[in-house]
Amino acid sequence: MRIDVVTIFPGYFDALELSLLGKAKQRGLIDVRVHDLRDATHDRHRTVDDTPAGGGAGMVMKPEPWGEALDGILDEGEGSDPLIIFPSPAGEVFTQGMARELAHEEHLVFGCGRYEGIDQRVFDEYAERGRVRLVSIGDYVLNGGEVATIAMIEAIGRLLPGVVGNPESLVEESHEEDGLLEYPSYTKPSEWRGRPVPPVLLSGNHAAVEAWRREQRIERTRRVRPELLPRELRGESRGRHAAD
Ligand code: ADE
Repeated sequence: MRIDVVTIFPGYFDALELSLLGKAKQRGLIDVRVHDLRDATHDRHRTVDDTPAGGGAGMVMKPEPWGEALDGILDEGEGSDPLIIFPSPAGEVFTQGMARELAHEEHLVFGCGRYEGIDQRVFDEYAERGRVRLVSIGDYVLNGGEVATIAMIEAIGRLLPGVVGNPESLVEESHEEDGLLEYPSYTKPSEWRGRPVPPVLLSGNHAAVEAWRREQRIERTRRVRPELLPRELRGESRGRHAAD
């Protein structure tokens, strides 16, 4: 998969060199290219923003640098049909389902806005010429799209074939398959600070372990995210549990 990122803070994306995604980059599974929006400016101050038309607080990102930066990426990737994603708190909400869908794309372009946003004509221009989506990573406001882009690249990148060593670990996770949250995990020692590992996990009884894990997933989901519970599991409650 090819991923281009346009930002005024390329340094944020150094984080993509780390861990599994860094390895995936080295192995050529993901080709991430980060572009500094200021390289598409032509004034002494490398200006990317200006005051809002109609007045008001804050600054708006100017359309010209965005046009030049995005045209350069689209020209270079000639023949591909990239999806341009603008992270925005005003966008559709990013979910595991969207990550799965986007993992099938050949070429993603992330346009990271700052300040009060990007001039609307940039969205209109590229939506007319191709595919554009505004995507939010949740109902809170960040200072810009960089952190949101890193979150999305990580969620999408780890679904690409070969990125995560054991593909089974993708299946059992929260939000995959049945939509229930993950069960709690334990490792050695069998007792730590007076807290034992639940005995069933040390019983060697595989069926009992599976039953316990499913029950934990249902109870945790009921407690923390009841709206995610499948209809057939709603209603009955098993009382209070210690907090996660
Ligand atoms: N930019 C600022 N806040 C954001 C959010 N919640 N999601 C995506 N991009 C953003």
